[in-house]
Amino acid sequence: MQVHKYDVVIVGAGGAGMRAAIESGQRAHTAVLTKLYPTRSHTGAAQGGMCAALANVEEDNWEWHTFDTIKGGDYLVDQDAAEIMAKEAIDAVLDLEKMGLPFNRTPEGKIDQRRFGGHTRDHGKAPVRRACYAADRTGHMILQTLYQNCVKHNVEFYNEYYALDLLTVEEEATREDGSTYLQKRVAGVVSYDLATGELHVFQAKSVVFASGGAGKVFKTTSNAHTLTGDGMGIAFRRGIPLEDMEFVQFHPTGLAGLGILLSEAARGEGGILRNSEGERFMERYAPTIKDLAPRDIVARSMANEVREGRGCGPDKDYVLLDLTHLEPAHIDAKLPDITEFARTYLGVEPYTEPVPVFPTAHYVMGGVPTNIQGEVHQDNDHTIPGLYAAGEVACVSVHGSNRLGTNSLLDINVFGKRAGTYAAEYAKTADFVDLPENPLVETQALLDNVRQADGTERIAAIRKDLQDTMDANMQVFRTGDTIKKAVKDIEGLRERYANISIQDKGKRFNLDLLEAVELGFLLDLAEVMSVSALGREESRGGHFREDFPDRDDERFMKHSMVYKDETAEMQGIKGLRFDTKPVTFTRYQPMERKY
Ligand code: FUM
Repeated sequence: MQVHKYDVVIVGAGGAGMRAAIESGQRAHTAVLTKLYPTRSHTGAAQGGMCAALANVEEDNWEWHTFDTIKGGDYLVDQDAAEIMAKEAIDAVLDLEKMGLPFNRTPEGKIDQRRFGGHTRDHGKAPVRRACYAADRTGHMILQTLYQNCVKHNVEFYNEYYALDLLTVEEEATREDGSTYLQKRVAGVVSYDLATGELHVFQAKSVVFASGGAGKVFKTTSNAHTLTGDGMGIAFRRGIPLEDMEFVQFHPTGLAGLGILLSEAARGEGGILRNSEGERFMERYAPTIKDLAPRDIVARSMANEVREGRGCGPDKDYVLLDLTHLEPAHIDAKLPDITEFARTYLGVEPYTEPVPVFPTAHYVMGGVPTNIQGEVHQDNDHTIPGLYAAGEVACVSVHGSNRLGTNSLLDINVFGKRAGTYAAEYAKTADFVDLPENPLVETQALLDNVRQADGTERIAAIRKDLQDTMDANMQVFRTGDTIKKAVKDIEGLRERYANISIQDKGKRFNLDLLEAVELGFLLDLAEVMSVSALGREESRGGHFREDFPDRDDERFMKHSMVYKDETAEMQGIKGLRFDTKPVTFTRYQPMERKY
């Protein structure tokens, strides 16, 4: 057995993982495990910007940013976390600037800022320029900058090492009132080396999960193929709850039929959504901020236009993003990549033709529950010493039921930095926890089961059917009936998953094996998303139930928590246990959400 020992092990080399590594690497012996090469992580696909109330181009302040984040999240946001994020945003941007990130500049040389959905001046009066950006490649620039700084701080990378298990031990612990409970503690991580097919144990005092989201649960998605929710899945299988998983964000402007992201920056720079009648329909849905309303509202409005027969194209199944009134030089300077995507993938020239767009699955608001230090909770009352999470895998919860655009690149920087700092500080004071007796046993069994399986089902076919049912039944609009259909389909797919086989039985770069394991995580997460959605009989943010079209604060102003528990049942599904957690309020009471 190959055992490596580090103070801190970080799983994932996207923005959150590398921001954590920069802090941790300066304080403690740190390794990063990534199933890709770091600079290929999905943060690199983030386009339009990272927001911070720098007030470089117009009046702004972090309190307005906090308010927008809370209202944008339809009041399910933990307000203490949102305050921290908005306040620390300013330093987070300046940190990146000092690390060398080439932000776009104003003529005076300040970091330039642009508009994005839901970011407003003075509590919703008008859109504000809050997003700091590097053309429409902001995520790419962040990823490169963070990687260079990780190298500078001697962070050790294990590339193409796929984390498959979290090693924990349980100890009896005593509460203040004298009662006892089983306290989980972190011992390390098991990882699969894609090049050799060998398993490695990474023993660590602290582990930080920063492994990203799970967009591949859906067919039409802006997410990379690698976004299969591994970190959420590993934690869930180890008894850690998943919070608010029913809330999935659909980004309004995916390229129609493909889902490839066209940044909201296109609307921030003046782009307009139009229906088949040429109407700027967002004026009806959000009269004050129109096309720059939060994503849940814009995505639903687009889907509604299509439903009511005002969609475009031969099948009337998309709307149009119109940039034709913008100067080509402006488009080239501010939106070079996404306009190239429209040309390459749809053959549309954005200077002269509007671009077909439709909502695409983009971001999971829920995830592994953490506090504002990034510590992971094993239940509402107890954290797991040594275990941290940040970025899309985590739910801190700053996004509530709907994330504002550009708050994701901000989240990974603010909470990545916090998680890395606290993980390293904890490691300085803690001892290594003894590894479980046979740390590889469960991972080995998982891989052997897949390798030796001789069933008749193919991974790609099951994954396609999963994505199809999630697209059909768990999209922008949901009802109890559509969600039940998804739940039933997932149960059937689980049975088929028990009857798979893979063609490649070898060890080196066995992508068949990798995809089979990933599919297992996708099935787990799709089930949690659907079952949570069934239980939430209201509409809030990204979760819109046509059978319960109103927000219901009395019954549902609370976070959903789902545990894997063989003894329990949730919405008729065995093996899941449901609980709730209160939302943290500081200053903002829930109001009607008008834009
Ligand atoms: O539209 C975009 O550029 C995406 C930004 C985000 O998801 O925050």
